[in-house]
Amino acid sequence: KGLKLYDPGYLNTAPVISRISYIDGDAGILRYRGYPIEELAEKSTFMEVSYLTLYGNLPSESQLAAWEFNISQHSAVPQGVLDIIQAMPHDAHPMGMLVNAMSALSIYHPDANPALKGLDIYNSKQVRDKQIARIIGKITTIAAAINLRLAGRPPVLPSNKLSYTENFLYMLDSFGNQSYKPNPRLTRALDIIFILHAEHEMNCSTSAVRHLSSSGVDVYTAVAGAIGALYGPLHGGANEAVLKMLSEIGTVENIPAFIEGVKARKRKLSGFGHRVYKNYDPRAKVLRKLTEEVFSIVGRDPLIEIAVALEKIALSDEYFIKRKLYPNVDFYSGLIYRAMGFQPEFFTILFAIPRMAGYLAHWRESLDDPDTKIMRPQQVYVGEWLRNYTPINQRT
Ligand code: CMC
Repeated sequence: KGLKLYDPGYLNTAPVISRISYIDGDAGILRYRGYPIEELAEKSTFMEVSYLTLYGNLPSESQLAAWEFNISQHSAVPQGVLDIIQAMPHDAHPMGMLVNAMSALSIYHPDANPALKGLDIYNSKQVRDKQIARIIGKITTIAAAINLRLAGRPPVLPSNKLSYTENFLYMLDSFGNQSYKPNPRLTRALDIIFILHAEHEMNCSTSAVRHLSSSGVDVYTAVAGAIGALYGPLHGGANEAVLKMLSEIGTVENIPAFIEGVKARKRKLSGFGHRVYKNYDPRAKVLRKLTEEVFSIVGRDPLIEIAVALEKIALSDEYFIKRKLYPNVDFYSGLIYRAMGFQPEFFTILFAIPRMAGYLAHWRESLDDPDTKIMRPQQVYVGEWLRNYTPINQRT
């Protein structure tokens, strides 16, 4: 019974109608609110793109100024959350720490919790916008505090004199020296990476936000659940896995043997393949070019030669051609992060920061959608039908 409904991985299920992003996986097209990703990466900033994703249009100058001001006003993190980060082991995984810090924000902002305040609190535009600004404002401060904790250093207060991405790099690298200014070209490179990662329709973690918030839970808990999904190596965790894979391969000569192992299903080629893209991921194209820009500033990473050769060999191999497996967004991003001095364990945090825009855009859209219902898929039951209960002393 119900086998017609069977749809593992939701390949043929569309539980929402959305206006936020559009993907044509065969043509390799990604647009946010109708704007091609390549054009946004070239001309826009992450602050403009996050506004676009959330509110539907590119901001005017005054809207952008108000948006940036609002975000920076919300960038301070409750001391209790910083204490939680400090209390975690020095070798904890940053993504595990981020899940915890985000879910702790739910406790520190009970004013935003429908379980405590009533389901209709999010009907107010002001209340919603406040949570949006809080999460986008605080995520970089939390991320920086996690990075500093792992390096045995105390958190650095955010600066409201700097742009969003500049402030993030400032908190990471300034050692509290208020006159520190991050390299503008590296700041721009990271801002482009943030644009590319801002939104990607119903991926695993964004669906998780929709799923959790459909129960009426507060947005911090819903976003914490999504960050948990993003942590997985098949999703955002792939950028960390790519770097480990490239280091393991070690030399270009080892690639053919590695590819044979993938074809024999010993492991997957990390950073390759996608549920939707059956063509080159347009974000990977931008990132591939961006690696050269970053290398021109900080020096060339020898692992790039392995990545380029691996891509070439895979793209001409029947196994990958037949399955339409191409590099995805995670294939080149890790090389840029490593060149910028980030540890592999921190890479997925750099995916999570900008993805807050997408999560919150979907959260907002779901609140406005009169068709939103608690998400509750069906199953196909194939277990025992009806059994007689056996008392414990008669069980074998
Ligand atoms: N290496 C080797 N084989 C692969 C790969 C890969 N990376 N990806 C898919 N395949 C094979 C898979 O074994 C299957 O072969 P067959 O039909 O013979 O059984 C076929 O291609 C179809 O794959 P699938 O697993 O059914 O595809 P999916 O849509 O369920 O999974 C995916 C998509 C992204 C999880 C998968 O391609 C994968 O595991 N890739 C590696 C991890 C990765 O790079 N993830 C990042 C995704 S993009 C950004 C993000 O979401 O965070």
